[in-house]
Amino acid sequence: MSALTFPILQVLSDGKFHSGEDLADRFAVTRATVWNAIQHAEKLGVEVFSVRGRGYRLPQAIDMLDEQAVLTAIGEQREWFNLQLLDEIDSTNSYLMKQAAKGAPHVTCVAAHIQTSGKGRRGRAWVSHLGASLTFSLLWRFNCGAAALSGLSLAVGVALMRAFQQLGVPGVCLKWPNDVLYDNRKLAGILIELQGDMDGPSAAVIGVGVNLRLPEQVLKRIDQPAIDLASIGVAVNQGELLGTLLRHLADVLHAFEDDGFVALRAEWLSYHVYHNRPVRMLMPDGRDVHGTVRDVAEDGILLVETALGLQRFSAGEISLRTGV
Ligand code: BTN
Repeated sequence: MSALTFPILQVLSDGKFHSGEDLADRFAVTRATVWNAIQHAEKLGVEVFSVRGRGYRLPQAIDMLDEQAVLTAIGEQREWFNLQLLDEIDSTNSYLMKQAAKGAPHVTCVAAHIQTSGKGRRGRAWVSHLGASLTFSLLWRFNCGAAALSGLSLAVGVALMRAFQQLGVPGVCLKWPNDVLYDNRKLAGILIELQGDMDGPSAAVIGVGVNLRLPEQVLKRIDQPAIDLASIGVAVNQGELLGTLLRHLADVLHAFEDDGFVALRAEWLSYHVYHNRPVRMLMPDGRDVHGTVRDVAEDGILLVETALGLQRFSAGEISLRTGV
């Protein structure tokens, strides 16, 4: 661990060469200290070119999260948010779950440049790499109990869709319960963890990962088809993306607090890629259930017409695939 690693990466994020001497002067340390900080970056999987006589350089320029850009994009509601930008953490969700248990305030948002053990749904990992994805978690406290939050993960998908539309991201859609897809490949994912009583009050840690620019070696490590904003041709600054997402999350979460998922259900259906389409449900016991998606209930349960009639499927261990 070196406190200088991320300040140095910030300088290198322009993709240009910076000599060890210049970096040492800038941070008033020795060149050996700079070298140690670079070693730590490499341990985190950041590739740093080192060329004798020229210095250090990243393979390409990287857009690093900037607090001011986040606050500007949030706009008028910025005072509301308790924003924490971390350099490296195991998982923003795990960290914020611990902070929530210790009393972290409502609407705390934690974003990290690198997660060393990012978590996905259904026990998967969320693969991290510097500049590859935006990774953050938002703590939202509810007066109601966890039992009333069953439609929350779908509601959060609506917020992501609104933000992507505002930012001009074309062709995105939702796959139940809450994957954001482009061209059948995953652009963003949501992992919600809850704490508190079933009867209330409760707290949700809403974790979001959005692929920004996935290097080939990272794409290979992701166990499902994935895509990033850069490949879609969307060049949005990470801070603007986070601020826009937070603004829409706040709107949607307020609506959810007032009326539950019912207020967002029609909009969610309009984004659902499999609406009225044949699907295959992969059940936890290995069975395949075939049917046609007909609706989603107010608690986020998917209603699928199967050979046995209209069946209800709840998220969790079920995976949804196209049926054709
Ligand atoms: C999924 O689609 O499987 C959910 C992915 C959620 C990833 C985000 S990244 C920020 C937050 N911290 C985590 O460890 N996971 C979520």
